[in-house]
Amino acid sequence: MEKLDWGNLSFGYLKTDYNLRCRYRDGKWEEPEVHTDEYLNIHMAATSLHYGQESFEGLKAFRGRDGDIRIFRPDENAKRMAASAAYVKMAFPGVDAFLKMVEQVVRLNEKYIPPYGTGASLYIRPLLIGTGAQVGVHPASEYLFLIFTTPVGPYYKDGFKPIDVLVDRDHDRAAPLGTGHIKVGGNYAASLESQELAHAKGYPAVLYLDAKEKRYIDECGAANFFAIKGNRYITPASHSVLPSITNMSLKTLAADMGLEVESRKVEFAELPTFDECGACGTAAVITPIGRIVDETENITYEFAKDGKAGEITTRLYHRLRAIQLGEEPDPHGWVMSFR
Ligand code: PLP
Ligand code: COI
Repeated sequence: MEKLDWGNLSFGYLKTDYNLRCRYRDGKWEEPEVHTDEYLNIHMAATSLHYGQESFEGLKAFRGRDGDIRIFRPDENAKRMAASAAYVKMAFPGVDAFLKMVEQVVRLNEKYIPPYGTGASLYIRPLLIGTGAQVGVHPASEYLFLIFTTPVGPYYKDGFKPIDVLVDRDHDRAAPLGTGHIKVGGNYAASLESQELAHAKGYPAVLYLDAKEKRYIDECGAANFFAIKGNRYITPASHSVLPSITNMSLKTLAADMGLEVESRKVEFAELPTFDECGACGTAAVITPIGRIVDETENITYEFAKDGKAGEITTRLYHRLRAIQLGEEPDPHGWVMSFR
């Protein structure tokens, strides 16, 4: 293994030693197999390639201060993948098999878990794809479930620093009654044009509004949106928003801190009333939002004073990280830990 510069990792792909694979054939799941190959050999008419019959997940393993390995809420990723699989008519190996494979793949690649204190983590990427051949639009009869890992640094290069976000009224990542509520590749294909346009203008992320009326806030890039207003934690409830495990956790932590939690439709017109805004997700952790730029209306909404994240956003970030790293108690039993 090459010496890795743990403190300067980006959110990219680095090869680790092993991936785990499990096949669904003849109506049943086979035993998982350990692989070292990074490539797949699949049928050219596989449904994942043509009809987007696929789902992926993203979760992280951390090296704790006490040396233990901690994985944050893997059961929730398993349940979400089960929901994604059900919607796009794929077989799913089950929550228990998912959890066992997550633990096994992390143990196999243990030397790639970044040391405590580096700010980096081992990203775990479960992937479920239709591998059976179809030419008509039908579900496959064969599937592959695999998990690989890769050590990562921050998703937005500066980590916990406020980012600028561009409002996008010209593209939707998901239709009102479409697939935004599940984690399938098509949603990310639909986001690429929008993201490239924003990047070209110097914005690391876009703010999506609801696809039907462009009146409500939906999501922020590949992360959920939240706002702080006085003593309230406010986050959009929408069928086209992915139910983020990070956001679910922040709602609980916000309530623990005595904040009122509002999960509801959030009007774009409310933006000027918010004290703090942020994006949250496994990759994004909490990324504070400094400015939201609406080019159509030629208005910039500012949320970071002196380029700094707001106080409540900062407290939430530290509380979440402290649980993930074993620095503070985990009162809700979120972390799967082992040595
Ligand atoms: N929204 C989208 C579109 C995402 O891709 C992600 C990442 O998984 C999230 C939100 C955040 O979800 P989670 O906190 O479960 O990682
Ligand atoms: C995550 O937060 O894990 C994501 O899936 C976001 C992105 C890398 C797709």
